[in-house]
Amino acid sequence: FYFPEPQNEPVYAYAPGSQERQLLKQQLVHHKAEELDIPMYINGQEVRTGQRIAIHPPHELRHTLGYYHKGDASHVQAAIDAALKAKAAWASMPWEHRASIFLKAADLITDKYRYAMNATTMLGQSKNVFQAEIDAVCELADFLRFNVHYLSEIYAQQPISPHGVYNRMEYRPLEGFVVAITPFNFSSIAGNLPTVAAMCGNVVVWKPAENQIYAAQQFMRILIEAGLPAGVINLVFAPGATVGEICFNHPDFAGVHFTGSTTVFQDMWNKIGQHIARYKSYPRIVGETGGKDFVIAHASADIDAVVANLVRGAFEYQGQKCSAASRAYLPSNLADKIVDKLIHEVKTIRMGTVEDFRNFMNAVIDEKAFDKITGYIEQARKSPQAQILVGGNASKEEGYFIEPTVIEAKDPHFVTMEEEIFGPVLSVYVYDEKHYEETLDLVDRTSPYALTGSVFATDRKAILLAEQKLVNSAGNFYINDKPTGAVVGQQPFGGARASGTNDKAGSILNLYRWLSVRTIKETF
Ligand code: NAD
Ligand code: ALA
Repeated sequence: FYFPEPQNEPVYAYAPGSQERQLLKQQLVHHKAEELDIPMYINGQEVRTGQRIAIHPPHELRHTLGYYHKGDASHVQAAIDAALKAKAAWASMPWEHRASIFLKAADLITDKYRYAMNATTMLGQSKNVFQAEIDAVCELADFLRFNVHYLSEIYAQQPISPHGVYNRMEYRPLEGFVVAITPFNFSSIAGNLPTVAAMCGNVVVWKPAENQIYAAQQFMRILIEAGLPAGVINLVFAPGATVGEICFNHPDFAGVHFTGSTTVFQDMWNKIGQHIARYKSYPRIVGETGGKDFVIAHASADIDAVVANLVRGAFEYQGQKCSAASRAYLPSNLADKIVDKLIHEVKTIRMGTVEDFRNFMNAVIDEKAFDKITGYIEQARKSPQAQILVGGNASKEEGYFIEPTVIEAKDPHFVTMEEEIFGPVLSVYVYDEKHYEETLDLVDRTSPYALTGSVFATDRKAILLAEQKLVNSAGNFYINDKPTGAVVGQQPFGGARASGTNDKAGSILNLYRWLSVRTIKETF
Protein backbone atom coordinates (compact mmCIF):
# COMPACT_ATOMS: atom_id res chain seq x y z
CA PHE A 1 0.00 0.00 0.00
CA TYR A 2 1.67 3.20 -1.21
CA PHE A 3 -0.02 6.51 -0.55
CA PRO A 4 1.12 9.09 -3.16
CA GLU A 5 2.39 12.50 -2.05
CA PRO A 6 -0.65 14.76 -1.50
CA GLN A 7 -1.00 18.42 -2.47
CA ASN A 8 -0.85 21.08 0.25
CA GLU A 9 -4.35 22.12 1.29
CA PRO A 10 -5.25 25.42 -0.48
CA VAL A 11 -5.60 28.44 1.81
CA TYR A 12 -9.02 30.13 1.71
CA ALA A 13 -8.94 33.93 1.38
CA TYR A 14 -12.19 34.77 3.25
CA ALA A 15 -12.61 37.82 1.00
CA PRO A 16 -15.33 40.34 1.89
CA GLY A 17 -18.67 39.15 0.52
CA SER A 18 -17.51 35.56 -0.01
CA GLN A 19 -19.59 32.61 1.13
CA GLU A 20 -16.66 31.18 3.12
CA ARG A 21 -16.41 34.43 5.08
CA GLN A 22 -20.11 34.35 5.85
CA LEU A 23 -19.95 30.71 7.00
CA LEU A 24 -16.98 31.40 9.25
CA LYS A 25 -18.67 34.45 10.76
CA GLN A 26 -21.69 32.25 11.55
CA GLN A 27 -19.42 29.73 13.30
CA LEU A 28 -17.82 32.49 15.36
CA VAL A 29 -21.25 33.65 16.53
CA HIS A 30 -22.31 30.06 17.23
CA HIS A 31 -19.17 29.27 19.23
CA LYS A 32 -19.41 32.45 21.25
CA ALA A 33 -23.00 31.60 22.21
CA GLU A 34 -22.37 27.94 23.00
CA GLU A 35 -20.52 27.91 26.38
CA LEU A 36 -19.03 24.46 25.89
CA ASP A 37 -18.55 22.04 28.77
CA ILE A 38 -15.33 20.26 27.74
CA PRO A 39 -14.54 16.81 29.12
CA MET A 40 -11.30 14.84 28.97
CA TYR A 41 -11.36 11.81 26.65
CA ILE A 42 -10.01 8.67 28.30
CA ASN A 43 -10.58 5.19 26.89
CA GLY A 44 -13.11 6.67 24.47
CA GLN A 45 -15.20 8.00 27.37
CA GLU A 46 -15.94 11.61 28.19
CA VAL A 47 -14.57 12.26 31.69
CA ARG A 48 -15.89 15.16 33.75
CA THR A 49 -14.31 15.88 37.13
CA GLY A 50 -16.50 18.79 38.18
CA GLN A 51 -13.42 20.98 38.63
CA ARG A 52 -14.40 23.39 35.86
CA ILE A 53 -11.94 25.97 34.58
CA ALA A 54 -13.27 28.87 32.51
CA ILE A 55 -11.88 29.64 29.04
CA HIS A 56 -11.87 33.29 27.90
CA PRO A 57 -10.78 34.73 24.55
CA PRO A 58 -7.45 36.49 25.22
CA HIS A 59 -8.81 39.53 23.33
CA GLU A 60 -12.16 39.68 25.17
CA LEU A 61 -11.65 38.70 28.79
CA ARG A 62 -15.20 39.45 29.86
CA HIS A 63 -16.57 36.71 27.62
CA THR A 64 -16.62 33.03 28.60
CA LEU A 65 -16.28 30.51 25.80
CA GLY A 66 -16.83 27.51 28.02
CA TYR A 67 -15.24 25.39 30.73
CA TYR A 68 -12.88 22.45 30.74
CA HIS A 69 -12.75 19.76 33.40
CA LYS A 70 -9.37 19.75 35.09
CA GLY A 71 -7.84 16.34 35.81
CA ASP A 72 -5.27 15.06 38.29
CA ALA A 73 -2.78 12.21 38.67
CA SER A 74 -5.53 9.57 38.72
CA HIS A 75 -6.68 10.66 35.25
CA VAL A 76 -3.15 10.49 33.86
CA GLN A 77 -2.86 6.97 35.27
CA ALA A 78 -6.24 6.05 33.76
CA ALA A 79 -5.10 7.42 30.40
CA ILE A 80 -1.93 5.28 30.50
CA ASP A 81 -3.96 2.19 31.45
CA ALA A 82 -6.42 2.83 28.61
CA ALA A 83 -3.58 3.32 26.14
CA LEU A 84 -1.85 0.11 27.14
CA LYS A 85 -5.14 -1.79 26.94
CA ALA A 86 -5.76 -0.50 23.40
CA LYS A 87 -2.23 -1.20 22.23
CA ALA A 88 -2.35 -4.80 20.96
CA ALA A 89 -5.42 -4.33 18.77
CA TRP A 90 -4.20 -0.98 17.43
CA ALA A 91 -0.66 -2.14 16.65
CA SER A 92 -1.90 -5.25 14.86
CA MET A 93 -4.56 -3.44 12.81
CA PRO A 94 -3.50 -3.49 9.11
CA TRP A 95 -1.74 -0.19 8.62
CA GLU A 96 -3.97 0.88 5.72
CA HIS A 97 -6.88 0.87 8.15
CA ARG A 98 -4.99 2.99 10.67
CA ALA A 99 -4.07 5.35 7.83
CA SER A 100 -7.70 5.63 6.66
CA ILE A 101 -8.72 7.05 10.03
CA PHE A 102 -6.21 9.90 9.79
CA LEU A 103 -6.99 10.57 6.12
CA LYS A 104 -10.67 10.77 7.00
CA ALA A 105 -9.85 13.15 9.87
CA ALA A 106 -7.98 15.40 7.40
CA ASP A 107 -11.00 15.44 5.08
CA LEU A 108 -13.32 16.18 8.00
CA ILE A 109 -11.13 19.16 8.90
CA THR A 110 -11.05 20.61 5.39
CA ASP A 111 -14.61 19.78 4.31
CA LYS A 112 -16.96 19.55 7.29
CA TYR A 113 -15.24 21.32 10.20
CA ARG A 114 -13.09 23.93 8.47
CA TYR A 115 -15.00 26.82 10.02
CA ALA A 116 -15.26 25.15 13.42
CA MET A 117 -11.49 24.51 13.53
CA ASN A 118 -10.88 28.12 12.54
CA ALA A 119 -13.44 29.53 14.97
CA THR A 120 -12.09 27.61 17.97
CA THR A 121 -8.48 28.58 17.17
CA MET A 122 -9.38 32.22 16.49
CA LEU A 123 -11.38 32.61 19.69
CA GLY A 124 -9.37 30.40 22.03
CA GLN A 125 -5.87 31.43 20.95
CA SER A 126 -6.62 34.93 19.58
CA LYS A 127 -5.53 34.27 15.99
CA ASN A 128 -6.73 36.29 13.05
CA VAL A 129 -8.52 34.47 10.26
CA PHE A 130 -5.46 34.01 8.04
CA GLN A 131 -3.28 32.77 10.89
CA ALA A 132 -5.97 30.30 11.96
CA GLU A 133 -6.59 29.06 8.40
CA ILE A 134 -2.90 28.31 7.69
CA ASP A 135 -2.57 26.60 11.07
CA ALA A 136 -5.68 24.78 12.28
CA VAL A 137 -6.93 23.81 8.81
CA CYS A 138 -4.18 23.72 6.19
CA GLU A 139 -1.13 22.73 8.24
CA LEU A 140 -3.00 20.22 10.37
CA ALA A 141 -4.62 18.53 7.35
CA ASP A 142 -1.22 18.58 5.59
CA PHE A 143 0.46 16.91 8.58
CA LEU A 144 -2.12 14.10 8.54
CA ARG A 145 -2.02 13.50 4.78
CA PHE A 146 1.74 13.87 4.28
CA ASN A 147 2.53 11.71 7.31
CA VAL A 148 0.44 8.88 5.84
CA HIS A 149 2.47 9.27 2.64
CA TYR A 150 5.81 9.27 4.51
CA LEU A 151 4.84 6.21 6.51
CA SER A 152 3.91 4.35 3.34
CA GLU A 153 7.39 5.19 2.00
CA ILE A 154 9.07 3.92 5.17
CA TYR A 155 7.17 0.64 5.17
CA ALA A 156 8.29 0.10 1.56
CA GLN A 157 11.97 0.46 2.44
CA GLN A 158 13.32 -3.10 2.60
CA PRO A 159 16.82 -4.61 2.54
CA ILE A 160 18.16 -6.65 -0.36
CA SER A 161 17.72 -10.44 -0.37
CA PRO A 162 20.31 -12.56 -2.18
CA HIS A 163 19.34 -15.93 -3.65
CA GLY A 164 18.36 -18.38 -0.91
CA VAL A 165 17.62 -15.71 1.68
CA TYR A 166 14.63 -13.49 2.43
CA ASN A 167 15.54 -10.40 4.50
CA ARG A 168 12.94 -8.03 5.72
CA MET A 169 12.45 -5.13 8.09
CA GLU A 170 9.41 -5.00 10.31
CA TYR A 171 8.54 -1.45 11.36
CA ARG A 172 6.99 -1.90 14.79
CA PRO A 173 5.59 0.76 17.09
CA LEU A 174 7.54 1.48 20.28
CA GLU A 175 6.95 -0.87 23.20
CA GLY A 176 4.79 0.96 25.76
CA PHE A 177 3.01 4.31 25.43
CA VAL A 178 3.99 7.74 24.09
CA VAL A 179 3.12 11.03 25.77
CA ALA A 180 2.48 14.09 23.58
CA ILE A 181 2.82 17.41 25.42
CA THR A 182 1.81 20.28 23.18
CA PRO A 183 2.04 24.11 23.09
CA PHE A 184 -0.60 26.83 22.87
CA ASN A 185 0.57 28.59 19.76
CA PHE A 186 -0.25 26.15 16.93
CA SER A 187 -3.34 23.94 16.73
CA SER A 188 -1.52 22.08 13.95
CA ILE A 189 1.45 21.19 16.16
CA ALA A 190 -0.93 20.22 18.96
CA GLY A 191 -2.73 17.86 16.56
CA ASN A 192 0.39 16.55 14.87
CA LEU A 193 2.35 15.42 17.93
CA PRO A 194 -0.12 12.75 19.13
CA THR A 195 -1.31 11.65 15.67
CA VAL A 196 2.05 11.09 14.03
CA ALA A 197 3.01 8.69 16.82
CA ALA A 198 -0.41 6.99 16.75
CA MET A 199 -0.26 6.54 12.99
CA CYS A 200 2.86 4.44 13.48
CA GLY A 201 0.87 2.07 15.73
CA ASN A 202 1.65 3.72 19.06
CA VAL A 203 -0.83 4.53 21.80
CA VAL A 204 -0.76 8.02 23.25
CA VAL A 205 -1.49 10.19 26.27
CA TRP A 206 -2.06 13.72 24.92
CA LYS A 207 -1.72 16.70 27.22
CA PRO A 208 -2.47 20.00 25.43
CA ALA A 209 -1.56 23.45 26.74
CA GLU A 210 -4.35 24.88 28.90
CA ASN A 211 -4.69 27.82 26.48
CA GLN A 212 -5.25 25.57 23.49
CA ILE A 213 -7.87 23.20 24.97
CA TYR A 214 -10.73 24.95 23.17
CA ALA A 215 -9.39 23.94 19.73
CA ALA A 216 -7.80 20.67 20.94
CA GLN A 217 -11.18 19.24 21.99
CA GLN A 218 -12.60 20.10 18.56
CA PHE A 219 -9.82 18.08 16.91
CA MET A 220 -10.25 15.20 19.37
CA ARG A 221 -13.93 15.00 18.44
CA ILE A 222 -12.94 14.92 14.75
CA LEU A 223 -10.59 12.00 15.42
CA ILE A 224 -13.38 10.11 17.16
CA GLU A 225 -15.79 10.81 14.28
CA ALA A 226 -13.10 9.56 11.89
CA GLY A 227 -13.15 6.22 13.73
CA LEU A 228 -10.21 6.39 16.14
CA PRO A 229 -10.67 3.41 18.48
CA ALA A 230 -11.07 4.00 22.23
CA GLY A 231 -7.81 4.38 24.14
CA VAL A 232 -5.50 5.03 21.17
CA ILE A 233 -5.22 8.75 21.95
CA ASN A 234 -6.34 9.87 25.41
CA LEU A 235 -6.78 13.60 25.98
CA VAL A 236 -6.06 14.70 29.57
CA PHE A 237 -6.19 18.13 31.18
CA ALA A 238 -3.99 17.54 34.23
CA PRO A 239 -1.17 20.04 34.99
CA GLY A 240 2.02 19.51 32.97
CA ALA A 241 4.13 18.66 36.02
CA THR A 242 1.59 16.01 37.08
CA VAL A 243 1.54 14.46 33.62
CA GLY A 244 5.35 14.36 33.65
CA GLU A 245 5.50 12.94 37.15
CA ILE A 246 3.22 9.99 36.32
CA CYS A 247 4.36 9.29 32.76
CA PHE A 248 8.13 9.59 33.32
CA ASN A 249 7.91 7.28 36.35
CA HIS A 250 6.15 4.51 34.44
CA PRO A 251 8.08 1.42 33.23
CA ASP A 252 6.07 1.39 29.96
CA PHE A 253 7.02 4.97 29.11
CA ALA A 254 8.29 4.69 25.51
CA GLY A 255 8.74 8.29 24.39
CA VAL A 256 7.75 11.93 24.64
CA HIS A 257 6.77 14.13 21.71
CA PHE A 258 7.06 17.67 23.01
CA THR A 259 6.82 21.21 21.69
CA GLY A 260 7.18 24.09 24.10
CA SER A 261 9.77 26.05 26.00
CA THR A 262 13.41 25.06 26.39
CA THR A 263 13.35 25.09 30.20
CA VAL A 264 10.38 22.71 30.40
CA PHE A 265 12.02 20.34 27.91
CA GLN A 266 15.35 20.35 29.74
CA ASP A 267 13.58 19.65 33.02
CA MET A 268 11.77 16.73 31.37
CA TRP A 269 15.01 15.35 29.99
CA ASN A 270 16.55 15.43 33.48
CA LYS A 271 13.59 13.58 34.98
CA ILE A 272 13.65 10.93 32.27
CA GLY A 273 17.39 10.52 32.84
CA GLN A 274 16.85 9.96 36.55
CA HIS A 275 14.43 7.08 35.81
CA ILE A 276 16.30 5.56 32.87
CA ALA A 277 16.92 2.16 34.48
CA ARG A 278 13.20 1.75 35.16
CA TYR A 279 12.05 1.67 31.54
CA LYS A 280 11.75 -1.42 29.36
CA SER A 281 13.45 0.42 26.46
CA TYR A 282 15.37 3.65 26.07
CA PRO A 283 12.62 6.19 25.45
CA ARG A 284 12.52 8.45 22.41
CA ILE A 285 12.85 12.08 23.48
CA VAL A 286 11.72 14.41 20.71
CA GLY A 287 11.37 18.11 21.44
CA GLU A 288 10.97 21.34 19.51
CA THR A 289 11.68 24.23 21.84
CA GLY A 290 12.44 27.95 21.94
CA GLY A 291 13.99 30.32 19.44
CA LYS A 292 15.61 33.74 19.08
CA ASP A 293 15.28 33.95 15.35
CA PHE A 294 17.39 36.35 13.34
CA VAL A 295 17.13 38.41 10.18
CA ILE A 296 20.34 39.77 8.73
CA ALA A 297 20.26 42.26 5.89
CA HIS A 298 23.37 42.69 3.74
CA ALA A 299 24.37 46.01 2.19
CA SER A 300 22.96 44.72 -1.13
CA ALA A 301 19.53 43.84 0.31
CA ASP A 302 16.25 44.93 -1.26
CA ILE A 303 14.88 47.41 1.32
CA ASP A 304 11.20 46.76 0.58
CA ALA A 305 11.68 43.00 0.91
CA VAL A 306 13.45 43.43 4.25
CA VAL A 307 10.70 45.67 5.64
CA ALA A 308 7.77 43.59 4.41
CA ASN A 309 9.25 40.39 5.78
CA LEU A 310 10.24 41.94 9.09
CA VAL A 311 6.68 43.14 9.63
CA ARG A 312 5.19 39.73 8.84
CA GLY A 313 7.96 37.71 10.48
CA ALA A 314 7.93 39.69 13.72
CA PHE A 315 4.28 40.60 14.23
CA GLU A 316 2.05 37.92 12.69
CA TYR A 317 0.29 36.10 15.53
CA GLN A 318 1.67 38.77 17.87
CA GLY A 319 5.19 37.36 17.53
CA GLN A 320 4.12 34.19 19.33
CA LYS A 321 5.70 31.83 16.81
CA CYS A 322 8.80 29.93 17.79
CA SER A 323 10.05 31.00 14.35
CA ALA A 324 9.24 34.72 14.73
CA ALA A 325 11.78 37.30 13.58
CA SER A 326 12.98 38.66 16.87
CA ARG A 327 16.40 40.22 16.26
CA ALA A 328 17.43 42.03 13.08
CA TYR A 329 20.88 43.17 11.96
CA LEU A 330 20.75 46.13 9.58
CA PRO A 331 23.71 47.44 7.52
CA SER A 332 24.71 51.05 8.14
CA ASN A 333 24.21 52.06 4.49
CA LEU A 334 20.52 51.00 4.49
CA ALA A 335 19.58 51.27 8.16
CA ASP A 336 17.94 54.72 8.09
CA LYS A 337 15.75 53.88 5.12
CA ILE A 338 14.79 50.46 6.51
CA VAL A 339 13.98 51.89 9.92
CA ASP A 340 11.89 54.76 8.48
CA LYS A 341 9.84 52.39 6.34
CA LEU A 342 9.54 49.88 9.16
CA ILE A 343 8.18 52.50 11.56
CA HIS A 344 5.76 53.68 8.91
CA GLU A 345 4.49 50.13 8.25
CA VAL A 346 4.22 49.23 11.93
CA LYS A 347 2.13 52.32 12.58
CA THR A 348 -0.42 51.07 10.03
CA ILE A 349 -0.95 47.73 11.82
CA ARG A 350 -4.49 47.28 13.12
CA MET A 351 -4.95 45.44 16.38
CA GLY A 352 -8.15 44.22 18.06
CA THR A 353 -10.58 41.31 18.23
CA VAL A 354 -10.53 38.36 15.85
CA GLU A 355 -14.12 38.99 14.73
CA ASP A 356 -12.98 42.14 12.92
CA PHE A 357 -11.16 40.56 9.98
CA ARG A 358 -9.26 43.77 9.24
CA ASN A 359 -7.14 43.30 12.35
CA PHE A 360 -3.63 42.10 11.55
CA MET A 361 -2.84 41.59 15.24
CA ASN A 362 -4.88 40.37 18.18
CA ALA A 363 -4.08 39.75 21.85
CA VAL A 364 -1.19 37.81 23.41
CA ILE A 365 -2.16 34.55 25.01
CA ASP A 366 -2.47 35.27 28.76
CA GLU A 367 -1.53 37.51 31.65
CA LYS A 368 1.75 35.72 32.31
CA ALA A 369 2.84 36.31 28.71
CA PHE A 370 1.59 39.92 28.85
CA ASP A 371 3.63 40.65 31.99
CA LYS A 372 6.75 38.97 30.63
CA ILE A 373 6.63 40.79 27.28
CA THR A 374 5.87 44.21 28.78
CA GLY A 375 8.67 43.60 31.29
CA TYR A 376 11.15 43.42 28.39
CA ILE A 377 9.68 46.59 26.87
CA GLU A 378 10.10 48.39 30.20
CA GLN A 379 13.74 47.26 30.43
CA ALA A 380 14.32 48.81 27.01
CA ARG A 381 12.52 52.01 28.01
CA LYS A 382 14.78 52.45 31.03
CA SER A 383 18.09 51.46 29.46
CA PRO A 384 20.58 53.83 27.81
CA GLN A 385 21.52 50.82 25.66
CA ALA A 386 18.16 50.80 23.91
CA GLN A 387 15.56 53.04 22.35
CA ILE A 388 11.93 52.25 21.55
CA LEU A 389 11.45 53.32 17.92
CA VAL A 390 7.73 52.57 17.67
CA GLY A 391 5.02 50.99 19.86
CA GLY A 392 5.74 50.13 23.48
CA ASN A 393 2.23 50.64 24.89
CA ALA A 394 0.05 47.89 26.26
CA SER A 395 -3.23 47.34 28.08
CA LYS A 396 -4.88 44.35 29.74
CA GLU A 397 -8.26 45.96 30.41
CA GLU A 398 -10.31 44.34 27.62
CA GLY A 399 -7.77 41.76 26.55
CA TYR A 400 -4.01 41.25 26.56
CA PHE A 401 -3.08 43.80 23.91
CA ILE A 402 0.51 44.88 23.28
CA GLU A 403 1.42 47.26 20.47
CA PRO A 404 3.84 46.01 17.84
CA THR A 405 7.12 47.32 19.19
CA VAL A 406 10.49 47.94 17.57
CA ILE A 407 13.50 48.51 19.80
CA GLU A 408 16.85 49.72 18.59
CA ALA A 409 19.64 48.13 20.63
CA LYS A 410 22.90 50.07 20.80
CA ASP A 411 24.58 47.02 22.29
CA PRO A 412 24.21 43.80 20.21
CA HIS A 413 24.07 41.86 23.49
CA PHE A 414 21.26 43.92 25.01
CA VAL A 415 18.78 41.54 26.66
CA THR A 416 16.10 41.93 23.97
CA MET A 417 18.65 40.83 21.33
CA GLU A 418 19.48 37.66 23.27
CA GLU A 419 16.46 36.23 25.12
CA GLU A 420 13.26 34.71 23.72
CA ILE A 421 10.48 37.26 24.38
CA PHE A 422 7.70 35.43 22.52
CA GLY A 423 5.65 38.51 21.79
CA PRO A 424 5.34 41.43 19.35
CA VAL A 425 8.79 42.88 20.02
CA LEU A 426 11.47 43.20 17.35
CA SER A 427 14.97 44.33 18.30
CA VAL A 428 17.22 45.84 15.65
CA TYR A 429 20.94 46.47 15.72
CA VAL A 430 22.77 48.57 13.14
CA TYR A 431 26.15 47.17 12.10
CA ASP A 432 28.94 48.72 10.06
CA GLU A 433 28.26 47.51 6.52
CA LYS A 434 32.03 46.91 6.10
CA HIS A 435 31.86 44.27 8.86
CA TYR A 436 29.33 41.86 7.36
CA GLU A 437 31.44 38.77 8.01
CA GLU A 438 32.09 39.72 11.65
CA THR A 439 28.36 40.38 12.03
CA LEU A 440 27.60 36.86 10.85
CA ASP A 441 29.87 35.60 13.65
CA LEU A 442 28.00 37.86 16.07
CA VAL A 443 24.65 36.45 14.93
CA ASP A 444 25.92 32.94 15.55
CA ARG A 445 27.34 33.67 19.00
CA THR A 446 24.55 35.84 20.37
CA SER A 447 21.95 33.22 21.27
CA PRO A 448 21.92 29.60 22.47
CA TYR A 449 19.05 28.86 20.07
CA ALA A 450 19.21 27.65 16.47
CA LEU A 451 15.66 27.50 15.14
CA THR A 452 15.13 29.84 12.18
CA GLY A 453 16.94 32.71 10.52
CA SER A 454 16.94 34.75 7.31
CA VAL A 455 19.47 36.56 5.18
CA PHE A 456 18.47 39.32 2.77
CA ALA A 457 20.94 40.09 -0.02
CA THR A 458 21.10 40.44 -3.78
CA ASP A 459 24.86 39.79 -3.80
CA ARG A 460 25.28 36.01 -4.27
CA LYS A 461 28.63 36.00 -2.44
CA ALA A 462 26.96 37.50 0.63
CA ILE A 463 24.24 34.84 0.53
CA LEU A 464 26.80 32.06 0.24
CA LEU A 465 28.90 33.46 3.08
CA ALA A 466 25.84 33.63 5.37
CA GLU A 467 24.84 30.09 4.47
CA GLN A 468 28.34 28.84 5.27
CA LYS A 469 29.03 30.84 8.43
CA LEU A 470 25.58 30.25 9.92
CA VAL A 471 25.65 26.51 9.24
CA ASN A 472 24.69 25.60 12.82
CA SER A 473 22.73 28.75 13.71
CA ALA A 474 19.31 27.78 12.33
CA GLY A 475 17.55 24.50 11.53
CA ASN A 476 15.46 26.44 9.00
CA PHE A 477 17.45 29.00 7.01
CA TYR A 478 15.66 31.39 4.65
CA ILE A 479 17.13 33.47 1.83
CA ASN A 480 15.24 36.66 0.98
CA ASP A 481 12.20 35.46 2.90
CA LYS A 482 10.78 35.73 6.42
CA PRO A 483 11.85 33.09 8.95
CA THR A 484 8.26 31.96 9.64
CA GLY A 485 5.67 29.96 7.74
CA ALA A 486 7.27 26.59 6.99
CA VAL A 487 4.91 24.44 4.90
CA VAL A 488 4.54 20.68 5.42
CA GLY A 489 6.36 18.75 2.70
CA GLN A 490 8.13 21.92 1.51
CA GLN A 491 10.27 23.12 4.42
CA PRO A 492 10.75 20.34 7.01
CA PHE A 493 10.72 22.20 10.31
CA GLY A 494 12.88 22.09 13.41
CA GLY A 495 15.93 23.52 15.11
CA ALA A 496 19.05 22.39 16.90
CA ARG A 497 21.09 23.64 19.89
CA ALA A 498 18.64 24.90 22.56
CA SER A 499 15.83 24.86 19.98
CA GLY A 500 15.26 21.13 19.98
CA THR A 501 16.23 17.71 18.74
CA ASN A 502 15.73 18.79 15.09
CA ASP A 503 13.50 15.87 14.20
CA LYS A 504 11.91 17.87 11.38
CA ALA A 505 8.14 18.00 11.66
CA GLY A 506 6.45 17.73 8.28
CA SER A 507 9.03 15.33 6.86
CA ILE A 508 9.77 11.62 6.76
CA LEU A 509 12.53 12.11 9.38
CA ASN A 510 10.06 12.64 12.21
CA LEU A 511 8.27 9.36 11.64
CA TYR A 512 11.37 7.24 12.16
CA ARG A 513 11.39 8.34 15.80
CA TRP A 514 8.09 6.56 16.48
CA LEU A 515 9.11 3.21 15.00
CA SER A 516 11.36 0.43 16.25
CA VAL A 517 12.62 -1.94 13.58
CA ARG A 518 12.96 -5.70 13.80
CA THR A 519 15.20 -7.19 11.11
CA ILE A 520 14.23 -10.71 10.06
CA LYS A 521 16.44 -13.06 8.03
CA GLU A 522 14.98 -16.29 6.67
CA THR A 523 17.20 -18.85 4.93
CA PHE A 524 15.57 -21.18 2.42
P1 NAD B 1 5.42 25.74 27.63
O1 NAD B 1 6.74 25.09 27.73
O2 NAD B 1 5.00 26.67 28.69
O3 NAD B 1 4.27 24.62 27.57
C1 NAD B 1 4.32 23.57 26.63
C2 NAD B 1 3.58 22.38 27.20
O4 NAD B 1 4.32 21.85 28.30
C3 NAD B 1 2.19 22.74 27.75
O5 NAD B 1 1.28 21.71 27.46
C4 NAD B 1 2.46 22.84 29.24
O6 NAD B 1 1.30 22.64 30.02
C5 NAD B 1 3.46 21.72 29.42
N1 NAD B 1 4.26 21.81 30.65
C6 NAD B 1 4.57 22.90 31.37
N2 NAD B 1 5.34 22.56 32.43
C7 NAD B 1 5.52 21.22 32.37
C8 NAD B 1 6.22 20.28 33.18
N3 NAD B 1 6.91 20.66 34.25
N4 NAD B 1 6.20 18.99 32.80
C9 NAD B 1 5.53 18.58 31.70
N5 NAD B 1 4.84 19.44 30.90
C10 NAD B 1 4.85 20.75 31.23
O7 NAD B 1 5.34 26.42 26.18
P2 NAD B 1 4.14 27.26 25.53
O8 NAD B 1 4.05 28.57 26.27
O9 NAD B 1 2.91 26.47 25.37
O10 NAD B 1 4.73 27.52 24.08
C11 NAD B 1 5.68 28.50 23.85
C12 NAD B 1 7.06 27.91 23.72
O11 NAD B 1 7.02 26.85 22.76
C13 NAD B 1 8.07 28.90 23.19
O12 NAD B 1 9.28 28.76 23.88
C14 NAD B 1 8.22 28.50 21.73
O13 NAD B 1 9.45 28.88 21.16
C15 NAD B 1 8.06 27.02 21.81
N6 NAD B 1 7.64 26.45 20.53
C16 NAD B 1 8.57 25.82 19.78
C17 NAD B 1 8.23 25.30 18.53
C18 NAD B 1 9.26 24.63 17.69
O14 NAD B 1 8.88 23.97 16.72
N7 NAD B 1 10.53 24.74 18.02
C19 NAD B 1 6.92 25.43 18.07
C20 NAD B 1 5.98 26.07 18.88
C21 NAD B 1 6.35 26.57 20.11
N1 ALA C 1 6.00 25.92 11.43
C1 ALA C 1 5.85 27.21 12.01
C2 ALA C 1 6.58 28.25 11.23
O1 ALA C 1 7.38 27.92 10.39
C3 ALA C 1 6.30 27.20 13.43
O2 ALA C 1 6.37 29.40 11.44
